[in-house]
Amino acid sequence: MKRTVLVTGGCGFIGSNFIHLVLAARPDWQVINLDRLTYAGNLESLRDVADHPAYCFVRGDICDRQLVEDLFAGHGIDTVVHFAAESHVDRSITGPGEFIRTNITGTFTLLEAARQYWAGNSEQCRFLHVSTDEVYGSLGTTGFFTEQTPYDPRSPYSASKAASDHLARAYFHTYGLPVLITNCSNNYGPYQFPEKLIPLVLNNCLQGRPLPVYGDGGNVRDWLYVRDHCEAIVRVVEKGRCGESYNIGGHNEKKNLEVVELLCDMVDAKVGRLPSGEPRRTLITFVADRPGHDRRYAIDAAKIDRELGWTPRYSFEQGMDATVDWYLANRDWMESVMDGSYRQYYEKMYGEIVGGEA
Ligand code: NAD
Ligand code: DAU
Repeated sequence: MKRTVLVTGGCGFIGSNFIHLVLAARPDWQVINLDRLTYAGNLESLRDVADHPAYCFVRGDICDRQLVEDLFAGHGIDTVVHFAAESHVDRSITGPGEFIRTNITGTFTLLEAARQYWAGNSEQCRFLHVSTDEVYGSLGTTGFFTEQTPYDPRSPYSASKAASDHLARAYFHTYGLPVLITNCSNNYGPYQFPEKLIPLVLNNCLQGRPLPVYGDGGNVRDWLYVRDHCEAIVRVVEKGRCGESYNIGGHNEKKNLEVVELLCDMVDAKVGRLPSGEPRRTLITFVADRPGHDRRYAIDAAKIDRELGWTPRYSFEQGMDATVDWYLANRDWMESVMDGSYRQYYEKMYGEIVGGEA
């Protein structure tokens, strides 16, 4: 089926992977990418599709009501895939304001524009709100998040995402807006900004810098290769039931320390040890814990499997291998996203363990 899709935040990590996937796999879809190009948005990530006839980029803010309305009317938007967000937990601790603005007000602005533009004619329309498993809070050593798990967000980031989920769900119940919500676990893969654990550690491994592990390194995340997440989103747009939430995850629970050690070993194997002859594990440095650090996330993705037939295609080993190879082959992408503001952020966050070549 033809679709004219407003993708918000398409220059970010998951959005850019999603646009690459859709332009290759859905020739009937037109993609309008609305992105403010914050520090996390990079046109470099979509350079190879910039001139694609089914793709159009608009620089702008999802909180700009007039711009959003003009895009709906001007392009005849019938589908929204809403990625745009402030997405980094650590930044939400040092500066929550922008999270409230973009994640809550921005989502509200998009919902209002869709409600107005689709009024009385929304049968084929879809509004997919991309959310996170962090809205469910933190697990003990057992159990999984299901779609019935009560919301219990514990950081400004997850609280702002929870608020936006509630708004999206309210627009389904109150106005009949065709809303779908996905709650996904930690993604990894190409084009991820090096503030998040995996690309930050990979970058530091390559530069011989210390590898910061928060607390005891025992916090658990459930890792999913980004391509699998993007395929699940396409599936939910095409087959999901409006008003429903779908949890997305890969049953790949790992302690942070395990992930960091694996990355060290993979980089050693692919490019050789450090110039000193030491293995990269020697770079691991335990640092102060993140305030309110959620201990464990783990997704039960049985519903999306049962109802929509989606399961991940990449094992953790395959996904990590593809990811490390991508970062090794795309060091210029990494350089291009690490401008002065990244360096400033890094100094502020990790100043006391900068080390290496920094
Ligand atoms: P990201 O930080 O890499 O990208 C966010 C993008 O949104 C950037 O391109 C940025 O420029 C854009 N943006 C920010 N504020 C904007 C605004 N006001 N107007 C327009 N554009 C704006 O994020 P990501 O990791 O790709 O995450 C995408 C979505 O998926 C987010 O909603 C996040 O909550 C959710 N999610 C992420 C993960 C993960 O592991 N990364 C897991 C589950 C869910
Ligand atoms: O669960 C989904 C969420 O996953 C998404 O909603 C978020 O947008 C995304 O950023 C991610 O959140 P996390 O906080 O889990 O991801 P991050 O990569 O920041 O951290 C992963 C784990 O690694 C976490 O337990 C904190 C730890 N960590 C992180 C960094 C950046 C470290 O130990 N050292 C670090 O330097």
